[in-house]
Amino acid sequence: MNQFSSLGSYPAVRLRRNRADDWTRRLVAENTLSTDDLIWPIFIKEGPGHRESVQSMPGQVRVSLKELIDHAGRAVDLGIPAIALFPATSPERKDGEGSEATNPENLICTAARLLKSTYPKLGLIGDVALDPYTDHGHDGVLRNGLVANDESLVVLAQQAVIQAQAGIDTLAPSDMMDGRIGALRTALDLAGLTDIRLMSYAAKYASGFYGPFRDALGSSGALKGDKRTYQMDPANSDEALREVALDLHEGADMVMVKPGMPYLDVIHRVKTRFGVPTFAYQVSGEYSMIKGAIDNRWLDPDKVILESLMAFKRAGCSGILTYFAIEAAERLKRG
Ligand code: PBG
Repeated sequence: MNQFSSLGSYPAVRLRRNRADDWTRRLVAENTLSTDDLIWPIFIKEGPGHRESVQSMPGQVRVSLKELIDHAGRAVDLGIPAIALFPATSPERKDGEGSEATNPENLICTAARLLKSTYPKLGLIGDVALDPYTDHGHDGVLRNGLVANDESLVVLAQQAVIQAQAGIDTLAPSDMMDGRIGALRTALDLAGLTDIRLMSYAAKYASGFYGPFRDALGSSGALKGDKRTYQMDPANSDEALREVALDLHEGADMVMVKPGMPYLDVIHRVKTRFGVPTFAYQVSGEYSMIKGAIDNRWLDPDKVILESLMAFKRAGCSGILTYFAIEAAERLKRG
């Protein structure tokens, strides 16, 4: 006897019947993946009109502002709802305090103004954290060698407000300071920006899978130490639920779990417990693993790209940040 005994047993029951042909499989499918589920992270760079490939992320590029319109246009043409912008800041603009983060003329704000005037309906997600701007590579400011929580909040709130003023409609704080959702929400409200959405990186783990991203932004060489005093321990998942509860309480509209595939259990727990819009970030290292194997012909792209994304839908995600967004949307269109 098991929990399914009342549903009958073989030979009356044969589960293969519902798998027998394509139309039946489509009818009984429990989850669907569509282009509406995709968010495409894009790396932007300063300087003149060309693109640079990111060595550890085959197929991904850093684009200049000049190329950005064409680049983002691919997402618009395919019907991808939103892109997430990540700036590769020149080393000469980085300092200990991450001051470039609060410059309204910085790369991400300039990009946001340009994109919003060209594609008013494309969702723009802005990263809130100081690591693209600090010479030590940490997500907050350092005091006595430690990332100082409350002092970082002040800078992060300013960073959030200037991005929103530049046209970013959803702010995604990835810094993992305590209280940051509340600090951002208060600052946005005071600035009259009450409709800006907050997509919180609520459960962000101290993960090795971010390596290629740090190469893409040029922050890997800069990073002193690691981020384990603020990002979560991979051993924990009850703690992820507390993080999510706090962020929702402080005014987050959507929550995210990051990385994705190694943390599907966390996604499932979050969705089951809170029932709020839950997102996953299929991070750079996940992309590079799959893409590297595809490029070596060890995996078949026609099978694994959409399968890896469907896993997130099955776990309970509303959507996925993925570097495969364009390829996935093209595949979904072809059917
Ligand atoms: C930093 C940030 C990171 C990513 C998004 N925002 C890296 C980090 O925390 O060091 C990782 C994304 C990826 O690996 O694709 N605030």
